[in-house]
Amino acid sequence: MRVLVTGGAGFIGSALVRHLVLEKGYEVLNIDKLTYAGTLTSLQTVADNPLYSFRRADICDALAMEAAFESFRPDRVMHLAAESHVDRSITGSRQFIETNVIGTYTMLEAARRYWQGLADREKDAFRFLHVSTDEVYGSLGAEGLFAETTAYDPSSPYSASKAGSDFLAKAWARTYGFPVIVSNCSNNYGPYHFPEKLIPLTILNALEGKPLPVYGKGDNIRDWLFVEDHARALDLIAERGRIGETYNVGGRNERRNIDVVRTICALLDTMAPRREPHEALITFVTDRPGHDARYAIDATKLETELGWRAIETFDTGIEKTVRWYLDNAWWWEPLRRDYDGRRLGLPAGGGGR
Ligand code: NAD
Ligand code: TYD
Repeated sequence: MRVLVTGGAGFIGSALVRHLVLEKGYEVLNIDKLTYAGTLTSLQTVADNPLYSFRRADICDALAMEAAFESFRPDRVMHLAAESHVDRSITGSRQFIETNVIGTYTMLEAARRYWQGLADREKDAFRFLHVSTDEVYGSLGAEGLFAETTAYDPSSPYSASKAGSDFLAKAWARTYGFPVIVSNCSNNYGPYHFPEKLIPLTILNALEGKPLPVYGKGDNIRDWLFVEDHARALDLIAERGRIGETYNVGGRNERRNIDVVRTICALLDTMAPRREPHEALITFVTDRPGHDARYAIDATKLETELGWRAIETFDTGIEKTVRWYLDNAWWWEPLRRDYDGRRLGLPAGGGGR
C-alpha cells in the first residue's frame, strides 16, 4: 500500500505517518511545505525507515503535485496539509484561503488526473481522504451533538476555509465520480502538538511559570480526542469508508476550557511541583472574537459502521500528554524560541495580557 500524506510534518499528520509506517507497514510519501507548524523532528522515528520518504513542496504548486503523483504512484491520498489555528486566521486570513481552499483544489485536480489514467483495478481501489474539522458546523448550544447531517455554519476564517475545502471535495465526488471521503474531527491533543493551541500552550506556560491565558470566562466547551485515536480512525475511514460519505470523529470527551486548564495544573502540581499551585497562574483574558461556545461530536456512524472506538479517555490521554511534554523538552524548546506563546487572534492587536 502506497499512501501520499499531505501535512505529514504537522501535529496530526506526523501521528498518522508514524502509524502508517510503524504499525501498518505502508509506504508513505509525506508532502509538506514546512511552514512554522511543520517540524521534521516529529518524524524522527520514521526518518530513516525505507518505507518513508519526504518531499518539501507547497500543495498549491500544481506542477509539483503532478510530479509527485507520477513518481510515487499512490494507492491512496490522505490530505491533511492546512493552516490550522483559528487565532492566526483572525489576524491574517489570506494564507488560510490559499492553502486550505486553493491547495485542496490543487490536490483534488492533481489526484483526479492521475486517477483517470489508472487501470480499472487501481482506479476502483483508489481513495482520497479529505481530513477536516467539526468547526465547519459552527457552534452548539447547551444541548445536541454534531451529526454528519448537521448544516455547515462556520464562524472563523479558519473554519470557513475548511468548509470551502469540504464542499470542493464533495463536489469532486458528485461531479467527477472521484472517490473522495471526508472526515470531520473534534479537537485533538497529544504529543508533538505545536504550542499555540490551548493544551500545549498551557502545559509549557505553566512549566515556565508564565500566565495561563483563558479566553472569556473559560466556559466554552471542546470535545477532546487523543491524536493517536484520530490517526487510527483516519486509516480505518480510508480503508473501509464509503465513497462520497462523511464520517464524524470524536471521543465523547466534552470539557469546559477552564476545567482542561485546571486538570493540567493539578497534574503538574504532582509531576513538576512549584512553590505555589499552578492554578495561581490562570489569567482570564479578552475573549476570542466569534468564539464558538460548544463543539461535541456524535461518532455513532464511525462506531457502528466501521467499528472504531477511542482508546484514550480525556483523563488517560491528558496525563500521557503532560508526561510527554515533561520528557521531551528537546522537541519543544526550539519551537518556543521562535514563538514564545504571546497572544494571537485579536484583530486590533494588543489585548488582554
Ligand atoms: P498543523 O498546523 O499541526 O499541521 C499542518 C501541516 O501542514 C504542517 O506540517 C504544515 O507545514 C503543512 N502545510 C501548511 N500549509 C501547507 C502548504 N501550502 N503545502 C504543504 N504543506 C503545508 O495541523 P494539524 O493540527 O495537524 O491538522 C491537520 C489537519 O487536520 C488540518 O487539515 C486540520 O484542519 C485538520 N483538523 C485538525 C484538528 C485539530 O484539533 N488540530 C481537528 C480536526 C481536524
Ligand atoms: P484552540 O486550541 O485554539 O483550538 P480551537 O480554537 O480550534 O478549538 O482553543 C481551544 C479552546 O481554548 C478555544 O475555546 C479557545 C480557548 N483558548 C484559550 O482559552 N486560551 C488560549 O490561550 C488558547 C490558545 C485557546
